[in-house]
Parts: sequence; C-alpha cells; structure tokens
Amino acid sequence: MCGIVGYIGNHLAIPITLKCLAALEYRGYDSAGLAYLDSGNMGVVKRVGKLENLNNFLKNKIIPASCAIGHTRWATHGKATVENAHPHTDANSVLSVVHNGIIENYDSIKKELKDKGIKFYSETDTEVFAKLLGYNLFSQNPDFDKYYAMHNSLHSTYKISKKHILKALNTTISQCNGTYAVAVLVKGYDDTIFFAKYKSPLILGKGQDENFLASDTPALLGVVSKFYSLKDGECGYIEKGKIVVCDENLKQTKPIFKKISVKPEQVMLGSFKHFMQKEIEQGAESVINTIDRIKKLGILERIPAQIFEKNFNLHITACGTALHAGMVAKYIIENQLRIPVFLDYASEFRYKEPLINAESICLFISQSGETADTLSCVELAKQKGATTIAFTNVPASRMESMVDYVIPTSAGPEIAVASTKAYLAQLGALYSLVDYIAKIRHITVNFNIDNVRLAALSNAKFNYDETLNEIVELIKNEESIYFVGRGLDYILAMEAALKLKEVSYIHCEALPAGELKHGSLALIKRDCVVIAILTQDDLVEKMLNNIHEINSRGAKVILFSPYADLEKFVSAHVLTPQVDNMLEPFAVMKPLQILAYKTALARNLDPDKPRNLAKSVTVE
Ligand code: G6P
Repeated sequence: MCGIVGYIGNHLAIPITLKCLAALEYRGYDSAGLAYLDSGNMGVVKRVGKLENLNNFLKNKIIPASCAIGHTRWATHGKATVENAHPHTDANSVLSVVHNGIIENYDSIKKELKDKGIKFYSETDTEVFAKLLGYNLFSQNPDFDKYYAMHNSLHSTYKISKKHILKALNTTISQCNGTYAVAVLVKGYDDTIFFAKYKSPLILGKGQDENFLASDTPALLGVVSKFYSLKDGECGYIEKGKIVVCDENLKQTKPIFKKISVKPEQVMLGSFKHFMQKEIEQGAESVINTIDRIKKLGILERIPAQIFEKNFNLHITACGTALHAGMVAKYIIENQLRIPVFLDYASEFRYKEPLINAESICLFISQSGETADTLSCVELAKQKGATTIAFTNVPASRMESMVDYVIPTSAGPEIAVASTKAYLAQLGALYSLVDYIAKIRHITVNFNIDNVRLAALSNAKFNYDETLNEIVELIKNEESIYFVGRGLDYILAMEAALKLKEVSYIHCEALPAGELKHGSLALIKRDCVVIAILTQDDLVEKMLNNIHEINSRGAKVILFSPYADLEKFVSAHVLTPQVDNMLEPFAVMKPLQILAYKTALARNLDPDKPRNLAKSVTVE
C-alpha cells in the first residue's frame, strides 16, 4: 500500500528509481511520481495511473540527477489525481516528500497551517506532512531568510545543517499521529535523502558508492545485496558513501545489515504472461517447500508443547485470502482436534473487545506480515498476555518481529495482488500445526501430513485448459455468479468467489448450499450461473439435492468435483483429483484459481493489478 524508493549514487537516479518502483507496484498503482535534485534545482514529476504512464513521460528525457525519491500510490486521502500524487512539497517548494502510511490528525494540522497563511493544492495527508515539515524547518528558523536567499542566488554557499533538518523531521513526526515511512529531499542537499519510519515498512540498501531506501526488498534486487530493516521511530539520512541512522532521540545507532535472500528470478515473469499465472503454477511447490522447511528446521518444536497440552482458547485472525486459509484451519481443528476456534476478520476483532487473556493462543495469518489491521490485533493480543503465533511469507516482516513464534510459509515472493500460492502455502503451514497439536494431545486425525505433498501434486496430471476455456465463455458476460458448497467446500467456495470477483469484477457471492432455500434462492433465475464445489464423500447426497433445486429454477450449475458420475446433473463439470477428504483444498483450489485468471483475461483485464486494490494493505 504505497511504495517508496530513494536512490543516491553515481548513476542517473531517475532510471534507477523507476526500475526500483516497478518492483513495488504491487503496493498501489493509482499514480506514480518522483522528485530529484539536479545542480541545486528540485524537479517533481507525477502521472496518474500505473507506473508505465510515468515511464512513458520520462522516456528519452535525460535528467542528470544522481539523487531521487519515488512513489507509487494507493489512494487513501483524495482521488487518484495528479494533485494528490506524491511527491508533495512544502510552501516554499524547497523540500519534497514521499510517504507510505496515514497521518491521522492531518485535518487539524491543516487547519492550523491554513490559519498561518499556508496554501494547499491537494486533499492528501502527505501534503500536510510536507507543509508542516517545511514550516518547522524554515518558518521557525531565524536563518530562513538566508536559506531562501541562497535558492534565489545559487552562488550562495549557505546551508541549513543536516542536524537541523533531522530535528525538524523529528519535531514534525512528534506532531503527527498515525503511521509513516517518509523520504525527503531538501534543496541544497543534492547528495542526501532524509528518512523516518513508524509502523510502515522502510528498508535501507547498502551499495558501493550508492545507497537506497525502499518499502520492500524486491525493489533492491539486482542493485544491492545487503539491507537493513528500519525500526519504528528511527530516522536519518543516506548519502553516496554514508548511512546515518538515529533513534527517536536523534542518537546515532549502528544498523546491522543483512543479506537479501530473495533471488532476482523469483520476481521475474520468466516464460509466463502474468504473475498470477506463474504463482498458480507454483502452488504445489509452495505447499511442499513450506511443509518441508517447517519439518527440516524444527519450527514447530520451537513452540513449547506444554502450551498445547493444557486448556487454551484458540483465536485465528487475518484479512482477505489469509482469513479464508484461517477458515479452513478452524474447520480442520474443530473437526479433527475437537478444539473450538474463534475466528475473526482482523478489522473486526480489535473493536469487539475480544475474549482473549493469558490462556489464549492467537494465530495470525498474513502473506506480507505488514497488514495494518492484522498487526493491530497482534498488538492487542500481546497486551492481553496471549501467546502469539504468526504465519507469514515475507521474511523479517513487522509481524515477525512482534509475535512470540513464527511459522514461515515458503511460497517465495508473491507479486500478483490476488493471493494464490501463498494461500496454499498458508494451508500447508496450518495443517502442519494441526498435525503437531494432534501428536502432542495424542489425537488420531483423518489425514496424514505426508499425504499433503501428494494432494498438492495431484493436479500435475490434469490439464484443465479446454474445460475451463469453455466455462469462461459461459460466464464471462455474467453480472453475478453464486458459489455454493457445504462444510469445507463452502469455505473453499468463499475463497473461489473472492478470487473470481477481485480479478474479473463480476459480482460473486458464496453461500452455504443448504442455506439457499432460506433467502438467496430468490436470486436464482433462468440461465444464471452457480458454481458448486463438492469434494466431501458424506455431503454428496445432500449437495445433489441442492443442485437439483438450482437446476429446477433453470440456472446453470458448473461443478468442481472429483466425483465423475455427477456430470449428468450439471451444465459443466470440472473433474478434479480425488485425494483424502481433509486434504481436498490442496487439490480443488487450483482449477478455481485458473478459472479466475482466465476470466480476467477474457474480460481484457490485468489479473495482476485489479482496480482499487493493493497487495500490502498498510492502513487500517
Ligand atoms: C489484500 C490482498 C489480499 C490479501 C489481504 C491480506 O487485500 O489483496 O490478497 O489476502 O490483503 O494480506 P496479508 O498480507 O495480510 O495476507
């Protein structure tokens, strides 16, 4: 959710900044912009829409700047317009700011600054930050006139000290509530990028005679090999050959840089057309890598067995697809371990005064490990003394640093906004935990963890292309599609509906098949499409009743199921592999994900960047 980049070095800063920004587009693509310093002048360029619009505008323009900051935006305050695009400038246009996060008290600060005569051009909270920083830096500085004079007369050598700039940055931060990762350019400092971080991610990349800052490591791939993940409250600046990091009291600290573990090819398309296509194909290996790594590194054994031996209450909290993985886990835990599970959307959990205490075990699931709603729940759980366990895919994420135990998923970087391989990897990790608890509590479960590998690989022999292409023709012009299932299949239907709706923009709704007759059947009319999922042996008869009810209303049923003999009852049947009933999520989800991908293409949409969405949602 908003990506920021900064570069200072010996090369042309603008092409490098654009390249790094491209790797962060998953964080938002409502607009893109950059600011640079070139021989004492500051330039700001912004374009609405995807980064390619900014790229096209800057193509063939050679700007000899060696210092730049860039931003890719997911709009929170104000529409996707050029005025609202970052970077934003102060009242005197001597500094520019890119920001990821939210300044919650921006409105009151804006009023105060307006009262002082400062004018605003955008609706954003970030412009308020820039104006406030400018005010703190210059208007309150007795040397401001001298500084300002310098910019009207480039012969002047007067400079405000870096210490003074850091102080102003710190003062500004103390006046702002909310979250931020900011990078700042100040006229007169062609060789410096200032930064500060609180709750939004920001990393520094150390190179040879060049340094970077960015929201996430993919931006640094292929340019530097070492990074430092800034801590909340830290601020500082980077220069060509120098990195200064200070704590919240402006005392210099010693950052310890780590090696970047992601390989450049992991974030490249290779022979695929889209990341969603690549990531669906990587589903099985993501599951297998996750389960194998958890086993090999003895990850679960790091969690003391005693906490699962005694009585505890178990909570699962997450957002989006990660929550759907949590729903599968709740089903399996309750069904197999007979332990009740409380499950909540992270955005709801926090505000309902959840029943958690020191006896609670709270599981948080997050691909990115930086979803603001889920992070707030981690904080709350910790305050209440609960044991916290995170399932995250991005190493060294903020969530990892907050919880008691981490169970990593090993899906590798997931770029497409719609989560596919990470969902399956989350299931792999969650099933591993269920297996671990079962062993501790001497419970025999109806699945063998070693068979998860087989279930994940079961799709290898299936080519869904022809059948799914026909189904896409059937559904691509629909306005609404209903997904139905029972038990575990209903939970899978929810994820399948989310996948299809977010990339195709067709309204999709998942319903428990047995509930149809209590209201929603009123929506089922001639020729409308209902996608049914049926993978559980004990539900075949009951589910068939529901399919007949739908057929009777003239609707078309498209069935995803391993039971071949049901074909005669439906308009189309996607035959899926038959695996252990409890392991069906690993088999049936792949064709449903491919259906979403193919439908997006048939509707001429970019499956990797659905409108209005972002992959990492760092605002609540
Ligand atoms: C966004 C993404 C989803 C993701 C959800 C939770 O909405 O578009 O794909 O499932 O956030 O993200 P997390 O990183 O916490 O799993």
